[in-house]
Amino acid sequence: MKALQIVKYGEIKESLSINEIEKPSVQANDILVEVKAASLNPIDYKMAQGYLKEMVPLDLPVTIGFDVSGVVAEKGNEVTNFEVGDEIYARVPHEQMGTVAEFVTINSDKVAKKPENISFEEASGLPLTGLTAIQALEKAGIKEDDRILIHAGSGGVGSFAIQYAKAKGAIVYTTTSTKNVDWVKALGADRVIDYKEEDYKEVANNLDIVFDTLGDDYTFDAFEIIKEGGVVTSIAGPPSEESAKIMGINDYELPEQLSKLVKDKSAVYKHTWMQPNSAQLNEIKTMVEEGDIKPIVDLIYSFEDGVNAYQYLSTGRAQGKVIISLS
Ligand SMILES: NC(=O)c1ccc[n+]([C@@H]2O[C@H](COP(=O)([O-])OP(=O)(O)OC[C@H]3O[C@@H](n4cnc5c(N)ncnc54)[C@H](OP(=O)(O)O)[C@@H]3O)[C@@H](O)[C@H]2O)c1
Repeated sequence: MKALQIVKYGEIKESLSINEIEKPSVQANDILVEVKAASLNPIDYKMAQGYLKEMVPLDLPVTIGFDVSGVVAEKGNEVTNFEVGDEIYARVPHEQMGTVAEFVTINSDKVAKKPENISFEEASGLPLTGLTAIQALEKAGIKEDDRILIHAGSGGVGSFAIQYAKAKGAIVYTTTSTKNVDWVKALGADRVIDYKEEDYKEVANNLDIVFDTLGDDYTFDAFEIIKEGGVVTSIAGPPSEESAKIMGINDYELPEQLSKLVKDKSAVYKHTWMQPNSAQLNEIKTMVEEGDIKPIVDLIYSFEDGVNAYQYLSTGRAQGKVIISLS
């Protein structure tokens, strides 16, 4: 079968190539999925560029991609929750990475039936970003009438998070640049802050929650705009002690600057390292079918054009999800 693989660490153009490899074999708890579409995420190109090689070392060559939608082609002899022919979607576990390929095997516990009212391309864009947003916002304890700032509302995670937070009854502020303001507003955000024209810290403050999807100074500056006792929930800042453990980092302490900010504001700092979760995929399926969440697709590339798809995503300017279609 054909697969888009990371063959060496470095620039995307040199690190990725389409190779002919053996079709994966199904273990007892796995399903074999005929891939119809795969969506791309920043973690994929960060792995190819070598930025994560200390934390997640790869045995190269390895097939790229974590998000998939497709059709069950085979199942292991202990799988009871899926049948051949079922239409599914999933964020595969790390050890089964490799969704940008004609076939992928996935532990059936990590899979859910795809929402029925959307295409394979749209469905493939939901698992990783949707699970990330849900897990980060649940950790923050989001509830009705909370005032929340979601950074990068036009990104894969942000565009899902806005819709999810609105469905929970929150009052949503979000940041993006001028070209995205109108369509991000249409996702339901109460106040879209154009970071080219406005200082978000002047517009949004005394917040219950900041969802930090940008990291660096944005993580630290979040403490200026939360209320006393507020929550900063991050997917791009330093790990918390809890998430460091999940990431396999032992003897970790929160950086001193961050600890001080937490203490001074009597605040809570949460960090999420997204985990596959089929119950939450089922929750997303229901929300999509009931019209609470709509998938936001920027561009769809062919499998043969997969390297260009990754180059585009790595500019950091995508408007929603970038998809590779194998249909
Ligand atoms: N910890 C985890 O488990 C986890 C899970 C998922 C993602 N992540 C990380 O979270 C980050 C976001 O992921 P993603 O999939 O949403 O990325 P993405 O789709 O590539 O984000 C692109 C978007 O970010 C916006 N953006 C860039 N700089 C901005 C700024 N300074 N202010 C406001 N918006 C800005 C861009 O809008 P403009 O063009 O308008 O600037 C663009 O629409 C990545 O670093 C990713 O690795 C972590």
